Amino acid sequence: MAITESRPVTVVPFDPFELKDVVSGDIRDPYPRMHELRRQSPVHSGPIDLGDGAPPADPHRPPPITVLGFDEVVQVLRDNETYSSGIYEGVIGQVMGRTILQMDEPEHRVARAMVSPSFRSKVLAHWEESLVTVVVNELIDTFIDRGRADLVREVTFNFPAQVIAHILGLPRADYPSFQRWALELTSVTANWERGIAASASLRDYFAGVMAERRVTPGDDLISDLVRVEVDGAMLHDEEIYSFLRLLLPAGVETTYRATGNLLCALLRDRTQFEALFADRSLFPQAFEESLRWEPPVTVILRRATRDAELAGVTVGAGADVALLLGAANRDEGRYVDPDRYDMFRPARQHLGFGFGVHVCLGMHLARMESRIALNTLFDRLGPFALDPAAQAPHIEGLAFRSPLSLPVTFAAG
Ligand code: HEM
Repeated sequence: MAITESRPVTVVPFDPFELKDVVSGDIRDPYPRMHELRRQSPVHSGPIDLGDGAPPADPHRPPPITVLGFDEVVQVLRDNETYSSGIYEGVIGQVMGRTILQMDEPEHRVARAMVSPSFRSKVLAHWEESLVTVVVNELIDTFIDRGRADLVREVTFNFPAQVIAHILGLPRADYPSFQRWALELTSVTANWERGIAASASLRDYFAGVMAERRVTPGDDLISDLVRVEVDGAMLHDEEIYSFLRLLLPAGVETTYRATGNLLCALLRDRTQFEALFADRSLFPQAFEESLRWEPPVTVILRRATRDAELAGVTVGAGADVALLLGAANRDEGRYVDPDRYDMFRPARQHLGFGFGVHVCLGMHLARMESRIALNTLFDRLGPFALDPAAQAPHIEGLAFRSPLSLPVTFAAG
């Protein structure tokens, strides 16, 4: 699907600072505390204070487990019989409905097989030029004459929602409402009622779009989902609504944060910025290193289905298990000088996209979106730099991390 309409993109007025409560206040650097805890033990039993206060102990439940070591996180993610994803039913399930994120095997394998064909890198290739490049260029058009911009407010925050909207084949006129619902849904922990209302609005909205696509299928993800058949089984409407809702926090929130983190790393290190600017083939290592150094999602969850032991620590059946991807990605036993962003370090698997059967379904899309965003910014703005008149940017948050602002200057075009 190419973008055929010539109407300019409406950038929905939005203040990213609204998200402050969702990004867990203004915790700038949780890593010293994570290092301290991991050096004590790669696995901890009992409530842990990571900077936003320790949750109260619940005497009726087994102590919560926190995993900070790389090898131990991988061990948990490999053993998906002992460590269940059913824990997500609680909060996320209530807002999204039942999705692959919260399913265990074998249900998960079947459901993931239904949706995964649309996310293969080959399938995504055709969105590259016709879609992502166009979206980023349109955003840049709105500020290129100014010679300065805030890349979070004016690019990274806006482009992944528009990309998903296009992939779903939504009409342009619906974008403002779609982005608003997406935002309200993803910030549900800040405002529960608003999040639930957005979830219902999205369901009604998608119901209309699906009915239309059944009659007139197009080259879009919703048309794929209403037609997909694996071993004679098709997706029920409710499963499609849930999956589409999951794509908003899973695909929009994460990609905007990841692209911001990469830009922040590069803007703060001129040598690495210039290396990538001069040689775009370095993008894969620059991006993977930013996901290692500052994963936008620093923690994922599991629940123990039976008694177990992890690095000598007892895990009780029913215990909540927090896997600190951020801590594992900076494990000194695995990475030299782990707090440093260094795109030239030897490539080693990181956990920014998770690991195992639930490894991120949208990772090829995320990589492609970020690459196109960076390349288009480089091509249009030239070697942009931090705005010397503005405050130096920083990454903040605990469960979700990213910069809230990236003020830059460039030669006005
Ligand atoms: C840089 C951007 C992204 C990051 C850092 C990221 C991170 C993750 C992580 C850590 C998980 C594992 C969750 C767990 O095991 O509990 C995950 C799963 C998932 N991601 Fe992503 N994600 C990104 C982009 C995307 C995009 C663009 C999409 C789709 C449009 C997407 C869709 C999903 C889905 C559907 C799952 C659930 C997979 C399953 O349960 O089998 N993600 N992601």
